[in-house]
Amino acid sequence: MWPTLEIAEDPEQLARDGARWIAGMIASSPPGPFTLALAGGATPRRVYELLAQESVPFERVAIYFGDERCVPPDDAGSNFGMAREALLESVGAERFAAVYRIRGEERDADLEARRYAALLPRAFDLLLLGAGEDGHTASLFPNDPALFETRIGALAVVGPKPPSQRITLTPGAIVAARRILLLAAGSNKAEVVAAALEGPMDTHRVPVQLARTADPGKVRHWLVDRAAAEHLHLDWWGARSAPTRARC
Ligand code: 6PG
Repeated sequence: MWPTLEIAEDPEQLARDGARWIAGMIASSPPGPFTLALAGGATPRRVYELLAQESVPFERVAIYFGDERCVPPDDAGSNFGMAREALLESVGAERFAAVYRIRGEERDADLEARRYAALLPRAFDLLLLGAGEDGHTASLFPNDPALFETRIGALAVVGPKPPSQRITLTPGAIVAARRILLLAAGSNKAEVVAAALEGPMDTHRVPVQLARTADPGKVRHWLVDRAAAEHLHLDWWGARSAPTRARC
């Protein structure tokens, strides 16, 4: 099953569309707790700032993280720190059903990964992911042994992108997600987006392809801006020249 592809005109439009899409997924989900795993990096920040302004039943939402750098929460590289600034503090952290932070400051990253894995739901209601230029997603980097892990939900890894020590969801936790929203913006992501969506399937060489296919009934939605879509065969995706939501 192929993902759906939506092309936003620019990063700001991507953030607006992304915030609205996330709010819509929460609103249209059955009543009860909604497990939302946040992506790190720079792209989602604006999405989170705008999500905080959406009318969302945040009291249903339990927040998790797709990965974390092994740094304290106040470090500029902390994914939790970014989400706290952009979303949690704007909404009021106490409004959320729960916030499950990966403790990047723990000295024993393996122990922390095991602790976090034990907290994970069987399947996230919604998992947000980004795409690195090298094809990584969360902190699953190309050809990393962690890419063989389908049983345990989180692992400590050492990646090539500083800060190198990280804790990440594993392929098992990613592919189990009921919905995945993949966010990519900028011409520096054009090559990886084309390789991920139109290249041969090889999740060890291009880990972000873990967000490309899914069992029937699961949602895989790629929201990219025009610059990141530059190398895609848009006619094939059914995406017309104007920014549009292509369904495939
Ligand atoms: C991280 C992220 C990582 C990110 C990509 C894209 O902790 O670095 O989880 O997977 O999503 O590297 O990052 P940008 O949005 O900054 O391009």
